[in-house]
Amino acid sequence: MTDAIQAPVPQDRVLIFDTTLRDGEQSPGATMTLEEKLQIATLLDEMGVDIIEAGFPIASDGDFEAVTAIARQAQNAVICGLARANFKDIDRCWEAVRHARRPRIHTFIGTSPLHRAIPNLDMDQMAERIHDTVTHARNLCDNVQWSPMDATRTEHDYLCRTVEIAIKAGATTINIPDTVGYTAPRESAALIRMLIERVPGADAITFATHCHNDLGMATANALAAVEAGARQIECTINGLGERAGNTALEEVVMALRVRHDIMPYTTGIDTTRIMQASRLVATVSGFPVQFNKAIVGKNAFAHESGIHQDGMLKNAETFEIMRPEHVGLNATSLVMGKHSGRAALRSKLAELGYTVGDNQLADVFVRFKELADRKKEVYDDDLVALMQDTDTNAANDRIQVRRLRVVCGTDGPQTAELTLAVEGIEHATSAIGDGPVDAAFKAVQSIVPNDARLMLYQVHAVTEGMDAQATVSVRLEEGGKIVTGQSADTDTIVASTKAYVNALNKLMVRRLKTAPEAQTA
Ligand code: KIV
Ligand code: ZN
Repeated sequence: MTDAIQAPVPQDRVLIFDTTLRDGEQSPGATMTLEEKLQIATLLDEMGVDIIEAGFPIASDGDFEAVTAIARQAQNAVICGLARANFKDIDRCWEAVRHARRPRIHTFIGTSPLHRAIPNLDMDQMAERIHDTVTHARNLCDNVQWSPMDATRTEHDYLCRTVEIAIKAGATTINIPDTVGYTAPRESAALIRMLIERVPGADAITFATHCHNDLGMATANALAAVEAGARQIECTINGLGERAGNTALEEVVMALRVRHDIMPYTTGIDTTRIMQASRLVATVSGFPVQFNKAIVGKNAFAHESGIHQDGMLKNAETFEIMRPEHVGLNATSLVMGKHSGRAALRSKLAELGYTVGDNQLADVFVRFKELADRKKEVYDDDLVALMQDTDTNAANDRIQVRRLRVVCGTDGPQTAELTLAVEGIEHATSAIGDGPVDAAFKAVQSIVPNDARLMLYQVHAVTEGMDAQATVSVRLEEGGKIVTGQSADTDTIVASTKAYVNALNKLMVRRLKTAPEAQTA
């Protein structure tokens, strides 16, 4: 099969390779379920990402299933899986990605002195391994990417030698990773330039740049690599990724759009979907976006100081280099109230990127009315939180919160009375705690005993005001498996309890023992 993406890329076109589901998911705690990965992949595909790195198929059965499912459903994007430099990894990767209309195998090996020591291969042995594994991958798939991991700390002569071997063995994309976030813009550009000049066959393949943000230079390093000739940027939504993260998709895409005058390159990204992608990834991963984060931070388009507001009223360009609507933020985010009807809700949800069928609209409408009763004004962000809560706390979950009553006071302790439905059967209990959240969590534990360790408990206000909804993230660890649960509600304790239960559902506690003291209601 011939893949258009392998045809020479027009000189000004930069391919966007999103690795949120692979490198992003490798952030400790950012583990995602299959449904969540599918949801993110659908959005990435719709917004014009050229290549989606969907996972590392040999890493676990869950990763394999996710890559397979994403490969089956993708409409436009190339679907890529990661494989180490051995036949078993590559075969497993191919088994998963081969279902895609446009599959890609991405295989890598660490080429720097420190990384060569890990498999204990000398330079010649590693060169042979690269030849054999890339050849093997290319025999399976006509779209093969090869990465010399830690390229920015690899001896230049050896880097050129290995890149040449990979190209001769059939690699169609050569990715140059700055694995530890060590390089700087001038060096990032010089490295790509050096490879293009020195490696025979370099003009027939695409060079990619893959930067980590340990020194805060990932975006600058990626853009410098593009100016030197790289035509694929590897990045993640919100810059999610191990340690300080990866190059942020929204930053490179908007930089290329806003400063097209000095960086005349284009991408295929529909930038108006950026906010939606950012919110989805923040919710699913439980990694909130910092307020002052470029492009997608809550304050990125807020102009609070008097001087700024005055300037903005006269001419938006005084302090704004891009329009909020270019990244999917509406000029006015005040949406509806309790008198709004179903049609208005459906059209508002469509505007926010959610296409809902009649049944889902009926469910969401009930929840919207409940929210509108409790909250004076319902904003876009409230609706997004409500939709994400509907997705994460599904009606078929094994454990569901039915009722919660918490008694608080200055002279504690606090008491929680809780009813949970566990596989359809209601159980009621009450617990005392050091604070209302502690009491509610203890009540959950008494109905669903578990050994999960609480790693993170985080509360965010969705909008301003005393009646704002809270979104709560709860990260749990059990037997090495880490999951993040979420929920949103105007009542922080209800949101906390539901987020905790959501995390337990994700852990799919197999030994769902019902404690003897919890009564069946
Ligand atoms: O950072 C890195 O080196 C990687 C490789 C697997 C491409 O993520
Ligand atoms: Zn990486």
